Amino acid sequence: MTTSADYTEKIPNNVDLHEDRRLQRALESWQPNFLHWWESMGPALPTQDVYLRTAINVGREGWAHFDHVAMRDYRWGIFLAERDRDRRIGFGQHKGEPAWQQIPGEYRADLRRLIVIQGDTEPASVEQQRNLGATAPSLYDLRNLFQVNVEEGRHLWAMVYLLHAHFGRDGRDEAEELLHRNSGSLDSPRILGAFNEETPDWLSFFMFTYFTDRDGKYQLGTLKESAFDPLSRTCEFMLKEEAHHMMVGTTGVDRVVERTAQLMVENDTNDAGPHGAIPLNVIQKYLNFHYSVSLDLFGGETSTNVANYYTAGLKGRWMEDRRKDDHKLTDDGMLVDALVEGDSGEQSIGQAEVAALTGLNSDLRREYIADCQSGVNRWNKIFADAGLPHRLKLPHVAFNRKVGVFASIEASPDGEMISADEWQRRVSQWLPTNVDKTFVRSLMQPVHQRGKIAAWIAPPRHGINGKPFDYEYVHLA
Ligand SMILES: [Fe+2]
Ligand SMILES: [Fe+2]
Repeated sequence: MTTSADYTEKIPNNVDLHEDRRLQRALESWQPNFLHWWESMGPALPTQDVYLRTAINVGREGWAHFDHVAMRDYRWGIFLAERDRDRRIGFGQHKGEPAWQQIPGEYRADLRRLIVIQGDTEPASVEQQRNLGATAPSLYDLRNLFQVNVEEGRHLWAMVYLLHAHFGRDGRDEAEELLHRNSGSLDSPRILGAFNEETPDWLSFFMFTYFTDRDGKYQLGTLKESAFDPLSRTCEFMLKEEAHHMMVGTTGVDRVVERTAQLMVENDTNDAGPHGAIPLNVIQKYLNFHYSVSLDLFGGETSTNVANYYTAGLKGRWMEDRRKDDHKLTDDGMLVDALVEGDSGEQSIGQAEVAALTGLNSDLRREYIADCQSGVNRWNKIFADAGLPHRLKLPHVAFNRKVGVFASIEASPDGEMISADEWQRRVSQWLPTNVDKTFVRSLMQPVHQRGKIAAWIAPPRHGINGKPFDYEYVHLA
């Protein structure tokens, strides 16, 4: 197997695609449909070219090449991390057996489902972000948006390759469906809730790339452990690209917070809104929203499906090999979030002990929550450094949930269980209202001049690939 991409091919790849003519033809016939989707559902702002990173290699160093390219000509390719010929399955009932290069028939349907669910999120986010270019705060941000978009497009390619290469006719049908479902569509929406929400402004975009792309990171982390080696290698490489998406979210929120804090200090006020920044309480509401819908993506607190996936070796845990247990979990228990009943029958938010295997969604969500907290700490340091007492906070895990045990109750951001009436009365303090969203949108005037930046956000500390902030990252059409 070669590690560098063959760019002489129509579909750049490091999987020796030319050796499998049938597969190559199948993917080449999917390619125009993909391009049609990209033209109609991808970035709407017309550009000549964008300073983009293209994957050219999967090695540790120098895997990316930067250049100005017309987005339409971006080389969406198929890249799997290098194969370890001795790789063995790390968990479940097949632990210790050689990793699979082909899918055992009994696991075909489940693996297909897992790949389709992952694949569905990739183009969904491109659709959600389609109109953001029109209101970009700088060319630097515009470039980052497009970089995220082309890479999500490539992640779709990654999943479609697996479907075509390993699932025959069913796989080809699923690959078509991935282009037919659309974010927010009434007849054929995307599979997961958060991917049908809109991303109407740049604060939403930064929150999305912080919280929702981060869910993607954790899901990919579990699939990277898969016994099915091509899936594992695909996800391993996707995680490299995903790191940039996290950076866009983390530093994007940093810069929003920095500007807000700055204007609060300068004007000695708690409300930076009249001074042209996003008010702190609105930032908190956006955070509450994006965090809670992202928690839903991890599924119910307990799941027998996920237990089965783990036992079968399809999907592992985050950092499986660093866990100090038997990697089978058949005799273990764990505590998960639950509604517990008191002596007099009243419900409250608490924890319950379940079999560790059925609690794996909770295990992953917990890892994710700890990671999310690190961003909040970092944003709070910006307030502290500005001499402000204000702090952002992750809402309680039971807040605003639509999936899992807390879907049936209402809870405040502090985790206090409240009635539906009280929720209705107070929700406008906790989640963005139309007034908040309209205000945020009113700030989103495009700044498409080189070296300039919108007033509601601080400039980035660093440019891309060592280039300065005032580099011509995008040439508009
Ligand atoms: Fe992705
Ligand atoms: Fe992403």
